[in-house]
Amino acid sequence: MNEAKHIAIIMDGNGRWAEKHGKKRTYGHEAGAKVVKEITKYCAQNQSIERLTLYAFSTENWKRPRLEVEYLMKLLQKYLESELQTYLQNNIRFEPIGDIKAFSKSLQKTIEGVKQKTAHCDGLVQSIALNYGARDEIVRAINTLKKTQGEITQDSLRDALDCKTDVDLLIRTGGDHRLSNFLLWQAAYAELFFVDTLWPDFTAQELEKILKNFKKIERRFGGLK
Ligand code: FPP
Repeated sequence: MNEAKHIAIIMDGNGRWAEKHGKKRTYGHEAGAKVVKEITKYCAQNQSIERLTLYAFSTENWKRPRLEVEYLMKLLQKYLESELQTYLQNNIRFEPIGDIKAFSKSLQKTIEGVKQKTAHCDGLVQSIALNYGARDEIVRAINTLKKTQGEITQDSLRDALDCKTDVDLLIRTGGDHRLSNFLLWQAAYAELFFVDTLWPDFTAQELEKILKNFKKIERRFGGLK
């Protein structure tokens, strides 16, 4: 039976959820942050899940209105500061991916702080993708490797990426069927699940249902059964 050791989620639909409730888009992001907490706790309690990677801010999200970008930055900072206890209580290690140099010094400090303070945790790894784009990640990895000697191999390139672990199960909420520059290398053999649920409505029960269906899939990785 398959176990989804690495789950990756494209958390889409916050804006539409807020509109549906007659509120501003930012209200949807705030509701989305609560779901991040619930899903992370669920994954931490599930022994077979080792890693959860969440797409929170892409290299393309800077194109959004300034106020929305600023709100997302503040929300992220608030989340990391207030959730440190949840990380520690649930033995969760926080490992951000993406190029965080573009963020304010204060946000970078918070991100680095939570990373260091949870470095000893050996339960679930929660990886939040921040100013992340898979193409950017691959180009940065190649530039790192250019400074070393020898031929680039699949293993050396993988080891130079921010995220070095293949994805087993990739979920996108919000009804669209695309990858939006998320974990393009790591998702080479991921099972893809697209659900219509808007991220703020996503629940641990729905994730559980997806995990049940995932277990039934015959994964061949290009080979034969
Ligand atoms: C996509 O929904 C969501 C984002 C670009 C941001 C994701 C942020 C969160 C889930 C909350 C904060 C995260 C953390 C880790 C605290 P959208 O705005 O594109 O929704 P739409 O497609 O309905 O417009």
